[in-house]
Amino acid sequence: MTRKFTGDTLLVATHNQGKLTEIREILAPHGVNVVGAADHDLPEPEETEDTFVGNARIKAHAAAQATGLPALSDDSGITIDALDGAPGVYTADWAETGNGRDFMMAMRRANDEITAKGPDAPRTAQFRCTLILAWPDGHDEVFEGVMPGSLTWPIRGAGGFGYDPMFVPEGLDVTCAEMPKTEKNKISHRGRALQKFVAGCFG
Ligand code: IMP
Repeated sequence: MTRKFTGDTLLVATHNQGKLTEIREILAPHGVNVVGAADHDLPEPEETEDTFVGNARIKAHAAAQATGLPALSDDSGITIDALDGAPGVYTADWAETGNGRDFMMAMRRANDEITAKGPDAPRTAQFRCTLILAWPDGHDEVFEGVMPGSLTWPIRGAGGFGYDPMFVPEGLDVTCAEMPKTEKNKISHRGRALQKFVAGCFG
């Protein structure tokens, strides 16, 4: 049985303003006051686990312990079938340059590594998102969302972020960077995990 959210304030353990705004909009009908990590001057704990769930748990529990508030965290990334699920939890690391993130470099690496597997290598991939709601007493609930698709080259589109310009969601012929944000949010890994979170904890 999923534990319901009964408080009036939810801490979202992210410094990403875009994620915070999206969650605030989704929870608006439920009368929840949504605050972000920056409002509480939260430290960013090291993500030392090798699964999305493990890393999301670290962030959610650290935030709940530090503030005494129920805390929601997310961990996301892309898994590429031809690369045995890489980059997975290392999705952001593939863009790391030592001087900021370069997603063009990360996308090129993904394409090069698939191409090196030969002409028959599948180009299928999945965006994955794990959301964890942790309470200060140590309880947590896990919600996962997946968006299946395939990776195209050359990249297309000017919207979105991260690996969006190379990702074509299953059943569509546009990349995530060619879609309006509202359309992507309806089918995205994060959108799907958020729908499960709302149904589970606020339903
Ligand atoms: P994090 O969980 O916010 O650290 O995200 C991990 C990485 O996954 C990000 O840096 C992005 O590169 C990638 N990623 C996660 N979600 C998306 C998405 O919706 N579009 C494109 N890239 C994404």
